[in-house]
Amino acid sequence: MSVAEDLKAHGITIPVGKYQGHAKSQRPDPDPELTATGPGTLCGEYLRRYWQPVCMTSEIPDDRPLRLRIMSEDLVAFKDKSGAYGLLAANCSHRNTSLEFGIIEDNGIRCCYHGWLYDIDGTILETPGEPDGTKIPERVKHGAYPVLEFKGLLFAYMGPAGEQPEFPVYDIHEQPNDEMVPYSITYPCNWLQVMENTVDPIHTVFLHTRITEVQFANSWGAMPVVKQYTPDNHIVTTSTYRWGDYVWLRAQDVCMPNHARIGAFLYEAEEPRYFWRSALTKWTVPRDDTECMIISWRHYGPDIDPDNLGKPEEVGKEKVDFIGQTMFRDYIERQIEPGDYEAQVSQGPINPHAAENLGQTDVGVATLRKWLRGQVRGLADGTQEPTRPPKYGDKHYGYVQDTVFPIPPRSSDEKEDEALRGEISDAAMDIILEADSLPTAEERTARIKERFQKLHEDPRFSA
Ligand code: FES
Ligand SMILES: [Fe+2]
Repeated sequence: MSVAEDLKAHGITIPVGKYQGHAKSQRPDPDPELTATGPGTLCGEYLRRYWQPVCMTSEIPDDRPLRLRIMSEDLVAFKDKSGAYGLLAANCSHRNTSLEFGIIEDNGIRCCYHGWLYDIDGTILETPGEPDGTKIPERVKHGAYPVLEFKGLLFAYMGPAGEQPEFPVYDIHEQPNDEMVPYSITYPCNWLQVMENTVDPIHTVFLHTRITEVQFANSWGAMPVVKQYTPDNHIVTTSTYRWGDYVWLRAQDVCMPNHARIGAFLYEAEEPRYFWRSALTKWTVPRDDTECMIISWRHYGPDIDPDNLGKPEEVGKEKVDFIGQTMFRDYIERQIEPGDYEAQVSQGPINPHAAENLGQTDVGVATLRKWLRGQVRGLADGTQEPTRPPKYGDKHYGYVQDTVFPIPPRSSDEKEDEALRGEISDAAMDIILEADSLPTAEERTARIKERFQKLHEDPRFSA
């Protein structure tokens, strides 16, 4: 009797297989060039070249400051009694007491320990314990960043003085008939793995539809043709689905480096719709290298949510009105029906890229990393300025869109239909990019909608 047979007689079965647990037991290091964002890091310096949202203005109390941590810097945001917003380094320039315990004044904030008073730009206005004529206010400047409020979010520029870019207002920030509700959600993991979710449309087929429950709509379960386009500073990822006699074309728009726009996601692709715009518009902002925030708006109104499927009253601090976006679910429920939060956070505090094995469907992730690496290195070695959106007053057009074309399959051949959907994606993007030459968002939208509504009559796509 062999050893295995002998053990079997005792009810023991020795597993046989290609087990490689020990060989794989050591996790590789993360990729700091793209994931480290503290002061002086390559990626951190790059992200600091852009206006970044740091909180919702509704989070800032009238009578107290709000402690923040952004890109590994400890800060306080506040609104002084004159109504001006400030964003200061948290530790007082006198002896480092945190200004989170500071007192809001008519102009600026006063440290609780010895009463130094700071203006919103970091100017020291008073050092009350010091003798008259003290030179401290001339000699010492406290760390401060310029901030502005826009539609309920507080944006900061944390880069070098003198290199502050224009604040870009895009068409999707000012849609007609659009209610924009701010929200922010904490993710206890690195910013990049949260950002990458937007350029990974294949996950919606599995995570959101096929693997457990249908989380948004059945149409998400079809396998899309995925294509990418890179106009200006955008990575536009189109997903083109076959759903009966319809072709559903979505374009997710990442405006580099960390601003993304996502189209409607609660609607089935079972009747035509044309050029619906952003359902959520977000930034992924590092708090430090192992924690980040999505700071965002959800969009509501007749043009993006005509059946009122969204629930604006469920949107705000650490909450949003669709499943799987926060840690605030029962753990077992999260295991049984995981969502984006579980998928992204569980990649690890900093997802080690060297442990991944990317496939063809990860083209978006690969493109984003390549672009980011090029920008980060270009800034570091002085060969390339960070990619900029257009100047204020110029056209700021986004590419997010969601359309259902009434275009039946040309044949029952799956490959032929994939080719058809790829052509439809190219044709639609051509229409959008051609319309970029129009001077206003209203004209551009009208032109695109008009041409989209006729696309099914195009001889290339009519049966
Ligand atoms: S530590 Fe802030 S005033 Fe002294
Ligand atoms: Fe998702």
